[in-house]
Amino acid sequence: MKDAFGIPQSLLVLGGTSEIALATARRLITRRTRTVWLAGRPSPALESAASGLRELGADVRTVGFDALDPDGHEAALGKVFAEGDIDMVLLAFGVLGDQSRDENEPGAAVRVAQTNYTGAVSSGLVCARALQTQGHGSLVVLSSVAGERARRANFIYGSSKAGLDAFAQGLGDALYGTGVHVMVVRPGFVRSKMTEGLAEAPLATTPEAVATAIETGLRRRSETVWVPGTLRVVMAALRHVPRGVFRRLPL
Ligand SMILES: NC(=O)c1ccc[n+]([C@@H]2O[C@H](COP(=O)([O-])OP(=O)(O)OC[C@H]3O[C@@H](n4cnc5c(N)ncnc54)[C@H](OP(=O)(O)O)[C@@H]3O)[C@@H](O)[C@H]2O)c1
Repeated sequence: MKDAFGIPQSLLVLGGTSEIALATARRLITRRTRTVWLAGRPSPALESAASGLRELGADVRTVGFDALDPDGHEAALGKVFAEGDIDMVLLAFGVLGDQSRDENEPGAAVRVAQTNYTGAVSSGLVCARALQTQGHGSLVVLSSVAGERARRANFIYGSSKAGLDAFAQGLGDALYGTGVHVMVVRPGFVRSKMTEGLAEAPLATTPEAVATAIETGLRRRSETVWVPGTLRVVMAALRHVPRGVFRRLPL
């Protein structure tokens, strides 16, 4: 169970090697989290992520999970919930893709959409049902500022995140009052392996800053978290910029 401050005792990460997820797990372990499941595609990186968290004193297990295999989600995630209650699920998997390549290779664009959107619809629903059966828990979804308004430079990724964001908001409303809390996190540019080698966007932040914002959001039981927080205001303005002007902005 979560403590009085909303900090989970048990955590399930979908996308077990995500730098943002691991920074969040490290932060939560220094608070109260004792059991961590890292769900991801089997790899040495997944095992090394697990050992890193074990060194901090947590009981860490890994489970095979592929966002692109929705038919396997019930079995993979069911195994985790069968072992005991999960107080928090962090939906952290995702791919950025390569916009210029993906525009020319529809199959590659579809993989971005299937990973970020349909993979999340499937695993999100499986976890939501399990949390609802328990009667408590948080589902924290890593959306993105990129989903707020489609940009020329990354509309394939952005549109997948827009779909994910809308799905997570609706799921949050569906679960309202059940004891299950859904929190949508919208980071801007985060310095992680996903953005390695890319030019930094304004207001760039770190996985640790996202982790801090997630912890604060859990304590407040927030429904939406922007990282950094100033992006909420920036995006409120950008959302209303006329299309013809927005198209010409160097974003
Ligand atoms: N970095 C940013 O600027 C930024 C900004 C806003 C939102 N976000 C979102 O935050 C989340 C975490 O990003 P991050 O920065 O921590 O990136 P990251 O370190 O690159 O992590 C991405 C994770 O997604 C997993 N993944 C990719 N395809 C998968 C699949 N088919 N099945 C299962 N797992 C899969 C990767 O696992 P493998 O080890 O198997 O590849 C990895 O664990 C993503 O959803 C991302 O879109 C990131």
